[in-house]
Amino acid sequence: MPEQYTVHPSNQINGTIFVPGDKSISHRSLILLSISEGIGKISGLLESDDCLATLNIFKLLGINITKNTDNTYEVHGKGLHGLTKPDSDLNCGNSGTSMRLLSGLLASQKFPCRLTGDDSLSKRPMERISLPLSMMGVDIKLSENNTAPINISPVLKISSIEYKMPIDSAQIKSSIILASLYANNKVKIIENIATRDHTENMVNYLGGKIINNNNQIIVHPGSKLISRDIEVPGDISSAMFIIVGCLISNNSKIIIRNVGLNVLRTGGIEILKLMGAKIEISNIKNYGPEKVGDITVISSKLNGVIIPKKYIASAIDEFPILFIAAANATGETVLRNAEELKYKESNRLSVMSKALLKCKIKNNLYDDGIKIHGGEIFGAIIDSSGDHRIAMSFAIAGLVAKNPITILNTENVSTSFPEFFDLIKSMGLNIERGNT
Ligand code: S3P
Repeated sequence: MPEQYTVHPSNQINGTIFVPGDKSISHRSLILLSISEGIGKISGLLESDDCLATLNIFKLLGINITKNTDNTYEVHGKGLHGLTKPDSDLNCGNSGTSMRLLSGLLASQKFPCRLTGDDSLSKRPMERISLPLSMMGVDIKLSENNTAPINISPVLKISSIEYKMPIDSAQIKSSIILASLYANNKVKIIENIATRDHTENMVNYLGGKIINNNNQIIVHPGSKLISRDIEVPGDISSAMFIIVGCLISNNSKIIIRNVGLNVLRTGGIEILKLMGAKIEISNIKNYGPEKVGDITVISSKLNGVIIPKKYIASAIDEFPILFIAAANATGETVLRNAEELKYKESNRLSVMSKALLKCKIKNNLYDDGIKIHGGEIFGAIIDSSGDHRIAMSFAIAGLVAKNPITILNTENVSTSFPEFFDLIKSMGLNIERGNT
C-alpha cells in the first residue's frame, strides 16, 4: 500500500548515530566475493531493497550466501568461472547499480541470461553500458528504447579495448571492469573526471590487478580473486540527509560514526563547507582499502555558492539534499554541468525544481542544472516520484519548514535507507506515518 509521512517543524535534530552500510560497497562486496575463491564474510552489508536484489541474483546464479546471527553475511565464492545458468530472469528491481554492473559481469559468462527491472529502472538509459560492452565483443541486446530488459548471450572471447568515458559514471566504468576481468588482454579506461573507485579498490584487495595512472585505468585480466572479509563503511550518501538536517536546524549537534570517506565520495561535504558548514572529521581509520571516520556537525549559517564542477561526480547522489541546504541558505546557489541528474531514479533537476516551487522556494531550471534562491520553506504535499532521495530530502526540509510537509509514496526509501524515518524520529523529528 502506498505510504506517506508528514513531518512537523521541530527545528532540532541531535544524537550520536551510525548510518547503514554503503550501498555501492555493499553491491560490490556481494559481486566480487561471489567470483572469488573461498568464503568471505561481510560485516555491515546494507540490507536495502537494492542490495538484496543483487544478493538474490547471486543466489540464482548458484552462489550460497548465508546470514549469521550477528547479522554478518558469508558468501561462498566459486571463483571467476563458478557462476551457473539461472532458472529465471534476474530481477534488479529499482537498482541501476545491479543492472549496469551485472551486465558487465554476466556478459563474460558461458550461459545466457536476461536482466529486468521495475518501471523506473526500465526507463533508465542502458546504451551507456551496451556500447562499450559491444566493443568488447559481448552479445548484449536492449529493448527498442535502449532500456531494460537486457538480453545477454555467451560469446567465445571478450576483447581488450581502450575506452574513453563519454560520461563521468562509476557504473559504466565498473561494468567495463567486471567484463575486463575475463578479457583476452589488458583493458584501458580513460576517465575525464575520476568517479568512485570502490570496484578498483576491492578487486585489488582481493588479489586482482587494476592500476590507475592519472585517470587512466588499466585492468589486467586473469588473476584469480581470493575471498577476504569485508567491512562495509557507513554510507556517506545516507549520512548527508542527517548532516544537512543538523546544519539547517537551530542549536543542533550530531555525530555520525564510521562513515565512508573515500575522497571520490566526499564532494557533498566539500560543497557544504564552501557554503559555511561547520563539519569536523575525526577518528580516521581504514576498512580494508576504504577510509572511514566520524563526522561531527553543528548548526551553521549557510550561504549560497556556485558549485564547482570538480565536485559534481563525487557528490552525484547528494544533490537533492544539497538543494534543500541551498533553499535554506542566504543568497543564490548555482549548479551547472550536472545533466546526469536527469537520468537518476527520477529526473532530479525537474522533480526537485517543481517540489521546491511548491514549498515557495524560487528557482530557475536549466537543461544541465538549477539556480536556487534561498528563502523560507513553506509546507506542501510533495510526491517523491518514486525516488528515495527526493522523499528523504523533503522529510529533512519538513524539519525547518514554516508548516508541515507531507511526502507521498515514500516506500522507495527502502531501496537505500530502510531505517531512515525511524532514525530521524529517534533524533527528535516530529513525524507521523500514514497510508494513502
Ligand atoms: C553508483 C554510481 C553512481 C550513483 C549510484 C551508485 C555506483 O551512478 O549515482 O547511486 O555504485 O557505482 P552513475 O555511475 O550512473 O553516476
